[in-house]
Amino acid sequence: MSATSTNGLRTNGLRPLVAGNWKMNGSRRALRELGMMSEGYDAGLRAAVDLLVCPPATLMQAASVIALGSRVAVGAQDCHAEEAGAFTGDISAAMLADLGATAVIVGHSERRAGHRETNAQVRAKCEAAWRAGLMAVVCIGETERERDAGKTLGVIGRQLSGSVPDGAGAANTVIAYEPVWAIGTGRTPSNEQIVEVHGAIRKALARRFKAEGRGMRILYGGSVKPSNADEILKLPEVNGALVGGASLKAVDFLGIAAAYR
Ligand code: 13P
Repeated sequence: MSATSTNGLRTNGLRPLVAGNWKMNGSRRALRELGMMSEGYDAGLRAAVDLLVCPPATLMQAASVIALGSRVAVGAQDCHAEEAGAFTGDISAAMLADLGATAVIVGHSERRAGHRETNAQVRAKCEAAWRAGLMAVVCIGETERERDAGKTLGVIGRQLSGSVPDGAGAANTVIAYEPVWAIGTGRTPSNEQIVEVHGAIRKALARRFKAEGRGMRILYGGSVKPSNADEILKLPEVNGALVGGASLKAVDFLGIAAAYR
């Protein structure tokens, strides 16, 4: 099924999602920005796009109170695969849900690189998220070296089949394609490169999950900002964005979401 909204953006029939990943940024003061995002998420935007903000876990509870009633969803950036136990410093998906989170990012490249997370671990975290009733945003993406070696689609395919568990569906899983070399660099892939990878992801999802796979949202992430959002978000099989730096300021985050107005 394909649909085109009134502003010409292709939505592929799926409701778009713009998600913000604050990473390890923000003290309580930063919650003012979330307040402004909630205020700016007016009826027009609410009709067009889902918004999700993922602050650091330290701000989760306060953030979910601030966002309450605005329909901006609040999510976490990672979770442990177990529900509870002797895992010093870790946070379970159930604990995040208890604080008001409704989603969690798993397998971000910064965790795959910095914490040596494997596809199997990401898959287990995804299952933990579902058990806690959270939507999982599963991140995949190639490094610059892998792209230069022509290995992008192979890498993406392996991450997708290894990180996404059986039982993935349109309601509990979102895929985020984030080329590692585009994260925080100001560089973005060409439209052709984005279309190629998103098309390959959609094909793989549809092959494996049938109708559910055709209904799962695929986000693009990596240096998305208000000035390039229109162009990127109208590409086929791009059902939204996962935004890092530009999600820290309400004016930028809302400016990106406004592509769907
Ligand atoms: P930037 O938008 O800062 O490039 O970060 C993207 C990202 O990693 C979101 O998860």
